[in-house]
Amino acid sequence: MTARILRGTETSALIRDELRDRVTALREHGIVPALGVVLVGEDPASVSYVTAKAKGAAEVGIDEETIRLPAAASELEVLQVVRRLNADPRFHGILVQLPLPGHIKSERIIEATSPEKDVDAFHPINVGRLLRGEPCPLPCTPHGVVQMLVRNGYDPGGRHVVICGRSNLVGKPLAAMLIQKRPGANATVTLCHTGTRNLAAITRQADILVAAMGRPRAITADMVSSGTVVIDVGVNRIPDAAAPKGFRLVGDCNFEALKETVEAITPVPGGVGPMTVTMLLLNVVEAAERVLAARGEERKTA
Ligand code: GUN
Repeated sequence: MTARILRGTETSALIRDELRDRVTALREHGIVPALGVVLVGEDPASVSYVTAKAKGAAEVGIDEETIRLPAAASELEVLQVVRRLNADPRFHGILVQLPLPGHIKSERIIEATSPEKDVDAFHPINVGRLLRGEPCPLPCTPHGVVQMLVRNGYDPGGRHVVICGRSNLVGKPLAAMLIQKRPGANATVTLCHTGTRNLAAITRQADILVAAMGRPRAITADMVSSGTVVIDVGVNRIPDAAAPKGFRLVGDCNFEALKETVEAITPVPGGVGPMTVTMLLLNVVEAAERVLAARGEERKTA
């Protein structure tokens, strides 16, 4: 049987329609949601991610400003930009594009970002809130994975979700989200990593398999059972002499083989990638909505 192809572009478009309405409502209350993006240097992948974020923001009516610093900018200069954005009430969200040049400690920059404006959900306070099941911004890629599942009719509740990859960006926060006792979560989670023995024996038990290890086409057809829903988070560049740029993108799954056997699968590109940007936009809108709600509270107590 041929798998259902889950396209992030389609699910994203639905969510962006909802966000546009929420932005209109905020603007009617005099609040224009705004995102400040900090880009240090000119790494081509980072430039392309930042461009996608700016384009997505414009699409839903979010104001976006990219602050560009040279690759040689000092840690203090980057910190000063972050502090300025923290203090500026026009900005509801702040995002410092990673990776940063080697001489800048990204943890210091992340920790300097106001947790209320931390739309990446990277600040240790927000990571702690997520694990404890407290209200917090949700990390964009893991949230994109969950929305892809829920909005396509594959609620993770009660399912066995096998995650391959323990990164701080995807594997660990996704596990933290899915183990919570709440709608769209409540799953049984197995987190596999480079220390896992007999990986295939575990991945074959998955109702839902999330591949996030950063290894091109590492998940092969023999590792996945026929009823499994597969979410491929991998974005790997592989050389391709026939491609205009000399490379093409592939995921962590062997898509061509898996699509003949599994229940459903996300393509790369066009799967989880567009969802990540949309979840970022959602975090900006929610940060702006919190500002509006706080205004209402102030009025009540005045
Ligand atoms: N670099 C790659 N992915 C991300 C992301 O989600 N957020 C930031 N800030 N940088 C990234």
